[in-house]
Amino acid sequence: MDRKLESKGRVCVTGASGFLASWLIKRLLLSGYHVTGTVRDPGNQKKLAHLWKLEGAKERLRLVKADLVEEGSFDDAILGCHGVFHSASPVLKPSSDPKKEILDPAIEGTLNVLRSCKNNPSLRRVVLTSSSSAVRVRDPDDFDPNIPLDESSWSSVELCEKLQIWYPLSKILAERAAWDFCKENGIDLVTVLPTFVIGPSLPPDLCSTASDILGLLKGETEKFNWHGRMGYVHLDDVALSHILVYEQQSAHGRYICSSTVLDNNELASLLSTRYPSLPIPERFEHLERPYYDLNTSKLKSLGFKFKTIQEMFDDCIASLVDQGHLSPF
Ligand SMILES: NC(=O)c1ccc[n+]([C@@H]2O[C@H](COP(=O)([O-])OP(=O)(O)OC[C@H]3O[C@@H](n4cnc5c(N)ncnc54)[C@H](OP(=O)(O)O)[C@@H]3O)[C@@H](O)[C@H]2O)c1
Repeated sequence: MDRKLESKGRVCVTGASGFLASWLIKRLLLSGYHVTGTVRDPGNQKKLAHLWKLEGAKERLRLVKADLVEEGSFDDAILGCHGVFHSASPVLKPSSDPKKEILDPAIEGTLNVLRSCKNNPSLRRVVLTSSSSAVRVRDPDDFDPNIPLDESSWSSVELCEKLQIWYPLSKILAERAAWDFCKENGIDLVTVLPTFVIGPSLPPDLCSTASDILGLLKGETEKFNWHGRMGYVHLDDVALSHILVYEQQSAHGRYICSSTVLDNNELASLLSTRYPSLPIPERFEHLERPYYDLNTSKLKSLGFKFKTIQEMFDDCIASLVDQGHLSPF
C-alpha cells in the first residue's frame, strides 16, 4: 500500500520525539510525506521506538541529531526539505535559570533553525509552532473582554516579565524573532498558536502538559488551579492544522488553533459528569484573572473543523489507560 502512496516531498520536523511532533509525524507519514525528524539523542531507542512503529516510518522517516543551542546543528536535517515544521522548544515549568533553560533555546534556537532554512534552496514554507500564550497574556485594562482575541493580539512582554512567566515570554519572543528574521530574509512563514493540547501521547514518557492532565484526572488541584481560564484543542487537530497551513498556498500569518475556552471549574464539572468514577476535583480557587475568549475564525475559514472537548478527553484518557498511567475504571 505504501508504494502506491505518491510522495508529497520531504519535510523536516524539529523535536521529533515530543508529544506534538510525534503525532504530526504520524499524520505527515500517513499523508505521504518523507519526513526528517530532529532529535537530541538519536541513540535513545526507548525514547524513539514509538516513531519507528508509525505506519510508513521504515520507508520514509529519517532521524537526525540536532540541538537548538548548537549553531548550524540543523543544516543537515533541513537541506533538501521543501517544508520545515519547527516544533522543538522547551516546555518546562519553573526554572532556576530561565534564560539558559527556556528563553535561549526557544529564541536563539528558532533563529538557528531559520538560518538553516535560509541556506536551503529547496525551501517552500516554514510552519512554526507558537502558542496561544503569545496572544492571551494581556493586562486587563488593555483589551475588551467582550471581544474575543484574534491573531492581531500579542501578549505583553512586560506583564510576562513582571509575573516571571518564562514559557509565555519564550513563545512571544521566539515568534517575534521568527517574523523579523523571515521578513528580512524572504522566508515564507506561517505560525500556528495552539491552546492547551489534549490527546493520546505517543511518547511513553508524558510531557509536562500531559502529566498535568494526568494529575487533574487523579484529583490534583495545584497545577490546574494556576491555569485558570484556558483554551483546549485536540492533539490531532493541532497536527492537521499544521499540515493544512503548510499545504494551503493562501495560508498566511498567524493561526490560533483552539476548540473551546473554559474556566477550570467548567472543565472540572464537565469531566466529572462524563467520568464519574475518576476523582476529578470539584472546585478550584477563584483567580483574579481577566475573562477572555478566542476568535478562531481564521483557521475555520480554511475549512477547518475542531474536535470537541469530549473527544479530546476520551482519546487522552483511553491512551493514559492503555499506557498504564491511569488504572482502568
Ligand atoms: N502541549 C501544549 O499544550 C502546547 C500548547 C501550545 C504550544 N505548544 C508548543 O508545541 C511544541 C511542542 O511541545 P510539546 O507539548 O510537544 O512538548 P514536548 O513533548 O516537551 O516537546 C518539546 C520538544 O522540544 C525539544 N527540545 C527542547 N529543548 C531542545 C533543545 N535544546 N534542542 C532540541 N530540541 C529541544 C524536546 O526534545 P527532547 O525530547 O530531547 O527533550 C521535545 O522533543 C512547543 O513549541 C510548545 O511550545 C504546546
